[in-house]
Amino acid sequence: MQSIDTTGTFLLPPQGSTMAADVDALFYFIYYVSVFFFALIVGLIILFTIKYKRRGKPGLTSGPTHSRPLEIIWTVIPTILVLIMFGWGFKDFIRLQVMPHESYEINVTARQWQWDIIYAEGVTSVNELVVPVGRPVKLLMSSRDVIHSFYIPSFRVKMDVLPNRYTNLWFEATRVGEFPLTCSEYCGQQHSLMRGTVRVLTEEDFETWISENANLLENLVTLEEGGELIYNKFLCYSCHSVDGTAGNGPTWRGLFGTMERLEDGSEVLVDENYIRESILNPKSKIVAGYQPIMSTYQGTLKPEYIDAIIAYIKSLSN
Ligand code: CUA
Repeated sequence: MQSIDTTGTFLLPPQGSTMAADVDALFYFIYYVSVFFFALIVGLIILFTIKYKRRGKPGLTSGPTHSRPLEIIWTVIPTILVLIMFGWGFKDFIRLQVMPHESYEINVTARQWQWDIIYAEGVTSVNELVVPVGRPVKLLMSSRDVIHSFYIPSFRVKMDVLPNRYTNLWFEATRVGEFPLTCSEYCGQQHSLMRGTVRVLTEEDFETWISENANLLENLVTLEEGGELIYNKFLCYSCHSVDGTAGNGPTWRGLFGTMERLEDGSEVLVDENYIRESILNPKSKIVAGYQPIMSTYQGTLKPEYIDAIIAYIKSLSN
């Protein structure tokens, strides 16, 4: 297991994708052009302030009206510079927008406040995007609730993730390692904690990882043990405790078999069907005193993972 890469320059994080060097080159071009003009303008202001300071009481003079060569120079040169920036930026922007045909596709679903990563092979993971090195990867992204933004600084790629619409993003990792993944759109109370890791593996390691994770419950002895694994792996703990303490959602300790009072005053028995419904359609029966902040795990949790969670919740009532 590698640790997070902390190389990189004073201004920019380490480069990890085929896009990074080009984005950085444009960044530094704009940066140094800005530094040059900042120095030139501020330098001239200081110089002229000293040179033309009024000393004594000279008579009034009529100032210069205009200088045609000077005006042409300070119009033409900046125009050329901004056109270079535009053309260069536009070329890279198009490259970021056009997905290569042979891309490996991964689904990403954002929710308050985590990233569900879903692979075609049936593997699901939370806050950990595992990708092969040297192969274009295309992300098909959508949100279960509000607007998020998927951002991998080291890959120099970022894209808004919206409810009710798919957005795309692609990259090709250039080296094996771990890179931070963040949400860069304010999406509520725990926005700053909505972080994850991009783990870039060699092609062989990637295949191994996929087959190892195809069924998380495969090598486990009991179903409730599997439920505990799912509880940790899918971050259920960020809202539901298992020791009785209060959270954003009801604790799972001693929950099974009790009667829960709902918002409308009615009561519901916490049984297998209620738990399943609460996972797949969380807003249908909100327990009194809680906010309807949970979004569905339909498509994220396989049916057998839900079975395991139910077994785990049952075990917490014994
Ligand atoms: Cu999701 Cu900020």
